[in-house]
Amino acid sequence: MPTLLTIIGARPQIIKAAALSRAISGRFAPSVAEKILHTGQHYDENMSGGFFSELGIPAPHYNLHVGSGRHGEQTAKMIHGIEQVLCNEHFDGVVLYGDTNSTLAGAVAASKLHVPVFHVEAGLRSFNMAMPEEVNRIVCDQLSSVLFAPTQTAIDNLKREGFTNSQATFRNGKERRVVQSGDVMYDNSMHFATMAEERSQVLERLGVQRGNFILCTIHRDNNTDSPERLSAIVSALLRIAEDQQQTIVLPLHPRTKKLLPQNLNKTLHDSFIASPYIKIVEPVPFFDIIMLERHASMVFTDSGGVQKEAFFFETPCVILRPETEWVEIVEAGAGIIADADEERIVEAYAQLAGREVHFPPLFGDAHAAERIVAEITDYLK
Ligand code: UD1
Ligand code: UDP
Repeated sequence: MPTLLTIIGARPQIIKAAALSRAISGRFAPSVAEKILHTGQHYDENMSGGFFSELGIPAPHYNLHVGSGRHGEQTAKMIHGIEQVLCNEHFDGVVLYGDTNSTLAGAVAASKLHVPVFHVEAGLRSFNMAMPEEVNRIVCDQLSSVLFAPTQTAIDNLKREGFTNSQATFRNGKERRVVQSGDVMYDNSMHFATMAEERSQVLERLGVQRGNFILCTIHRDNNTDSPERLSAIVSALLRIAEDQQQTIVLPLHPRTKKLLPQNLNKTLHDSFIASPYIKIVEPVPFFDIIMLERHASMVFTDSGGVQKEAFFFETPCVILRPETEWVEIVEAGAGIIADADEERIVEAYAQLAGREVHFPPLFGDAHAAERIVAEITDYLK
């Protein structure tokens, strides 16, 4: 029976892992075993611990508790800890998600020990090498035995870079595989949507009405760490909220919470905080965020995951980045890239509010996780 080590660390990876854990303990039980290693990259209860019980993810068998730090320091601690675990216990493969420092560390540690790497969310590219995530995902793809691409665009990106089935052979004599799997986040959104409707009280708690508020999340380093960009986003939010008399709900990532008072001038900061239309809250549980995504009139975000979930729940989205990996959302007309430009953000809101928006099925059939586990099992035969 193959035993997999799932490596997670940041909030979106914990959420994504729920889909595979569900498949492993459901349809594939008892033929595949899973242990979970949490690097400790995210550690606040509302960024990490809370998701395990909410989404039914088994408690991590290992927690490296690396915490926050500079990229090199944080990643090095993770590589060291993962290597120790892989040396002490036999695993048939490691499962990695996305593009965080935890993904990079897992790929480096496992591939050096010739443990096959299975990369979920392979092939995503922003073509912006200034993003730490672009570096992480390129390295991880290069080191992976099986690349699970969620979309046709991701498959095309991989092809363009020369990734094909059998392009590389690994120490175990097996050849690389590239698989279009669909998106595990879509699996999760569909699986948990009804439960969220039944259990979440977030709309009542925040006093917002379905279809009559905006959801906004901001956490990308190039937005939070730049006074100019953060001020432009906040100015646009304030303008839209007050001109349209729309409540904007902001579950604030700890990085943004820390930098908001530092990187906004006092006048802008005080008017933002004091505005009756701006509701700043702590990061919310998954059931709450999907209710907010589903019932918002529009989503403003620089998050990859929130962009996609807005699309799954048929809510138009203003993308607060210079580009996106999820280009199909923009091509479908359901999202507009507005970067951190005050005028473009205000204009994007007006355009999306006045447009009939379509949400074609682009992210699979909500069975990506089962496809991924079946492929891994086949690879390890
Ligand atoms: C990381 C990922 C990013 C992903 C995001 C998801 C990298 C390089 N970046 O960014 O790709 O989109 O997670 O949310 O891996 N902090 C806390 N408590 C926590 C976690 C973080 O206070 O539980 C604060 C710390 O001040 C920390 C800062 O947030 O320094 C940034 O955390 P970090 O994990 O380094 O990067 P993220 O911005 O969260
Ligand atoms: N999310 C959440 N609570 C929040 C904000 C986001 O549960 O308050 C979830 C969201 O539903 C998505 C994931 O976190 O599944 C996205 O993570 P994040 O925006 O931190 O990172 P990214 O997707 O950009 O890497």
